[in-house]
Amino acid sequence: THQWRGIIEEYRDRLPVTDTTPVVTLGEGGTPLVPAQVLSERTGCEVHLKVEGANPTGSFKDRGMTMAITKAKEEGAQAVICASTGNTSASAAAYAVRAGMVCAVLVPQGKIALGKMGQALVYGSSILQVDGNFDDCLNLARSLSENYPVALVNSVNPFRIEGQKTAAFEIVDALGDAPDIHVLPVGNAGNITAYWKGYKEYAADKMSTRAPRMWGFQASGSAPIVRGEVVKDPSTIATAIRIGNPASWQYALAARDESGGLIDEVTDREILRAYRMLASQEGVFVEPASAASVAGLLKAAELGKVDPGQRIVCTVTGNGLKDPDWAVAGAPQPVTVPVDAAAAAEHLGLA
Ligand code: F0G
Repeated sequence: THQWRGIIEEYRDRLPVTDTTPVVTLGEGGTPLVPAQVLSERTGCEVHLKVEGANPTGSFKDRGMTMAITKAKEEGAQAVICASTGNTSASAAAYAVRAGMVCAVLVPQGKIALGKMGQALVYGSSILQVDGNFDDCLNLARSLSENYPVALVNSVNPFRIEGQKTAAFEIVDALGDAPDIHVLPVGNAGNITAYWKGYKEYAADKMSTRAPRMWGFQASGSAPIVRGEVVKDPSTIATAIRIGNPASWQYALAARDESGGLIDEVTDREILRAYRMLASQEGVFVEPASAASVAGLLKAAELGKVDPGQRIVCTVTGNGLKDPDWAVAGAPQPVTVPVDAAAAAEHLGLA
C-alpha cells in the first residue's frame, strides 16, 4: 500500500530540493478531486472540485509552506514571519513548529475567522493584530524581514509558488490531461500564479497535451484586478480574499492572458449562495472565500459563457470549519426534545 508522502517527496524532481535538503512536511497534498454532480448538471459540463481543505491545516497554503519552511530551514533561518488573512498564518505556524522555528504572524485586526485565529494560537506563534488591512500587514512583514533576522514566507517568496504548483500536477495526474478550464478564487494572486506555472511546466514536458484557460474570481468589494486599480478599503464577507493590492497582480494578468482566460468578480451574495449549495448539494463544506470559484462558474454559466461538454476543475481552497460563523448564521436553531422516541420522530417528520 502506498502512503502519500507530501508534495516534496511526491514531486521531488520538479521542485528545488537536493538529497541533503531537510524536508519539513505534514503530509500535505494528495487532496481529493471530487466529481461535482449538481454543478455538472447545471453547467452541462464535467465539473470536479479540488478539495484543498483536506490539507493538514485545512487550506492549500500547506503546499507552499512545506517548500518555504523547508528552504528557510536549509538556509539556516531560525524565525519566519508572514502577513495573513488567516490561512497562511495557520500554515506557517504549524510548519514552523515542525521545523523548530519561531513564527510571527501579522493579521488585520478583527478581520480573520475564528478557527484561523485558534490555529495560530494553539500552534504557538506570536500574533500581532495590526490596525490596518492585509495590504498594510504585508508591507509591515516585508519591512521587518528586510531589517531583522526573520524570513518572509508570504507568496512573494518564490518557494511558496513552487510548492503550490503541485496542485496542477495532481489534477493532470488524476484526469490524464489538463482540464479545459480551471477556476479559482483570487486574493493576493499567488495561487493562480502557481497553478498556471504548474500547468505550463507539465504541458512543456508533455505530461499533458495542453494547459487550461485560467478563470479567477475576486469578491466584488475587493476586486482590484477587475477594476484595474488598487482598492484602498477592501470589503467582503470572504475575509480570506479581502485584499486591495495583490502582490502577484502582474502574474495573475499573465495567467489570464497567456491562457485565454478571465478574471471577474462575484458579489458576497453570490459567494454565500455557492457556499450553501456546495455544502447542501455536493457535500463539500468550504469556507466562504473558497466558494468564490464556484460562484464564478455559476455566474458564467448563467450568462451563457460556459460551452457544454467541457471538463472544468474548481479549486475550493479552504475548509468550512475555519469560519463556522457563516454556517450557523441565518440557519434555523435546532429544536430540543426530551429523551422520547415518539417526540423525536414527530419533530423529524417520521411519525
Ligand atoms: N482562498 C483562501 C481560503 C485563502 O486563504 C486565500 C488567500 C485565497 C483563496 C486566495 O489565494 O491569495 O493566492 O490569491 N489567503 C491568504 C492568507 C491571503 O493570508 O491566508 P491567493
